[in-house]
Amino acid sequence: VEEILKPFRLSNENLKEISKRLLKAMEEGLRNKTVGSDHPSIRPSVKMLSSHLKERPNGTENGGFLALDMGGTKLRAYYVEVMNGKIKLEPKSKEWTIPQELKNESGTQLFDYIVKNLGAFVETLKLEGNPKLPLGFSFSFPCDHKSLYKCFLTKWTKGFKCSGVERKDVAKLLREAIGRKGGLNIHPIVMVNDVVATMMSCEDENCQIGMIIGTGTNACYMEEMKNVGTEDGEEGQLCINTEWGGFGDDDSLKDFLTEFDKNLDNESDNPGEHIVEKMISGKYLGEIVWRVLLELKEKKLLFEGSVSDNLRKKDTFETRFISEIEENSEKNGLENADKILSDLDLKVNSTDPSLVKMVCDTISSRSARLCAAALVTIANRIRTNRGLPHLKITVGMDGTVYKKHPNFSEKLKEALRTLSPECDINIKVVDDASGKGAALVAAVAQRLCGQ
Ligand SMILES: *[C@@H]1O[C@H](CO)[C@@H](O)[C@H](O)[C@H]1NC(C)=O
Ligand SMILES: *[C@@H]1O[C@H](CO)[C@@H](O)[C@H](O)[C@H]1NC(C)=O
Ligand SMILES: *[C@@H]1O[C@H](CO)[C@@H](O)[C@H](O)[C@H]1NC(C)=O
Ligand SMILES: *[C@@H]1O[C@H](CO)[C@@H](O)[C@H](O)[C@H]1NC(C)=O
Ligand SMILES: *[C@@H]1O[C@H](CO)[C@@H](O)[C@H](O)[C@H]1NC(C)=O
Ligand SMILES: *[C@@H]1O[C@H](CO)[C@@H](O)[C@H](O)[C@H]1NC(C)=O
Repeated sequence: VEEILKPFRLSNENLKEISKRLLKAMEEGLRNKTVGSDHPSIRPSVKMLSSHLKERPNGTENGGFLALDMGGTKLRAYYVEVMNGKIKLEPKSKEWTIPQELKNESGTQLFDYIVKNLGAFVETLKLEGNPKLPLGFSFSFPCDHKSLYKCFLTKWTKGFKCSGVERKDVAKLLREAIGRKGGLNIHPIVMVNDVVATMMSCEDENCQIGMIIGTGTNACYMEEMKNVGTEDGEEGQLCINTEWGGFGDDDSLKDFLTEFDKNLDNESDNPGEHIVEKMISGKYLGEIVWRVLLELKEKKLLFEGSVSDNLRKKDTFETRFISEIEENSEKNGLENADKILSDLDLKVNSTDPSLVKMVCDTISSRSARLCAAALVTIANRIRTNRGLPHLKITVGMDGTVYKKHPNFSEKLKEALRTLSPECDINIKVVDDASGKGAALVAAVAQRLCGQ
């Protein structure tokens, strides 16, 4: 068993090496002027995209702001009141499930649907008499940000196929739908990436990093403008959306991948892409455990060497099972393991559950430790940028893996402490990040425009 699990156990030395390589990839992404949508074939693995956001709230932002969050099937609208750069009350919000049929319809129909609901929401707030309402739009699809106010959908994902939207400016499509409806005074529309919203929503002066560890993984942070070769200007800072899930796509993690990782990648929808994300995020953790369990079964170390029809299927071992099996009190976790495995029609004896728990722990620990290595890389980048011997910094954190797994945060924090004595990294979990963060970006944009 130990032989099979060993390649997953990354030592502190391994993590330091990975951190070094990540920093190199980040620097390449920042420097390389040849990258971007115009040169899709020569993208660096860690894209380091500009979010066009150059400041955090400075305490002078005031007013009411709308936010829209379209992350997949759910659409959510928020009304956020900001006072002196802070969110005043719990935001008002409403959520809709986007009808399945609409995903195949035209973009016009999709955006008319969004605006119809947004209009109804605004009406319930009795805000019609207000002057212009700025709106922050957190749109979680691959999107090419040309400015804070322009974002071109690269490609639909998550089952959407609406025509006439790909390669178009999503803010413009929303603006046109608002025009078609009439009677809504919403302006300007600010496009916000979800990880940037996560950083902004954390409402802590020291919060200069955002991270998501959920279905996917991503991080953003405040970089010095003078280091960003892809943008003009030398003064101040810029929030960079790292898209670090692509780390390893240039083979830089080759020597840390296990056979299980390679097979998972090979059989995935996008072989060769998002290599580190496939070692970390909720979309894949269950499948990694599944692959290890099959191997242990093959070696007759589990389930009396037999397998059920259920376990033959790839998606039966869900990521949430890992959380249930690692449930903190020893006994609960093992009882859960026994139940989950029995429900999969496996032959489970009295020692199988603890072995399966060990597999889950190994896989989730690797994920947490890789995320810690990324955070340390980013924090140290900020520290050296500012020439500081020691840095105290806060990370706005979101994502189901971080929030739902019973011990993920502990594992991550323990690794942070050992990897980076120079940085005091405080993690702040944020809720409703997309809505709050998008509204705060709109508030900062309004201040900077002097509107
Ligand atoms: C930018 O990327 C291209 C293509 O990968 C590469 O040829 C070039 O050397 C890179 N430039 C810098 C400054 O890293
Ligand atoms: C959407 O389109 C796909 C093919 O593009 C089709 O298989 C599916 O049935 C359609 N769904 C609806 C609800 O129209
Ligand atoms: C997947 O693995 C098979 C067999 O090892 C190999 O022939 C194939 O080229 C691999 N495919 C990819 C996309 O790497
Ligand atoms: C449970 O089964 C495994 C093989 O599947 C075996 O190695 C282990 O010793 C068994 N445990 C007990 C308590 O019989
Ligand atoms: C949680 O993780 C920490 C750090 O790895 C470890 O010390 C602790 O024993 C774990 N707790 C449980 C209940 O697994
Ligand atoms: C906040 O920013 C505005 C303009 O962007 C500036 O006029 C103001 O002095 C700043 N306030 C503080 C407290 O930094």
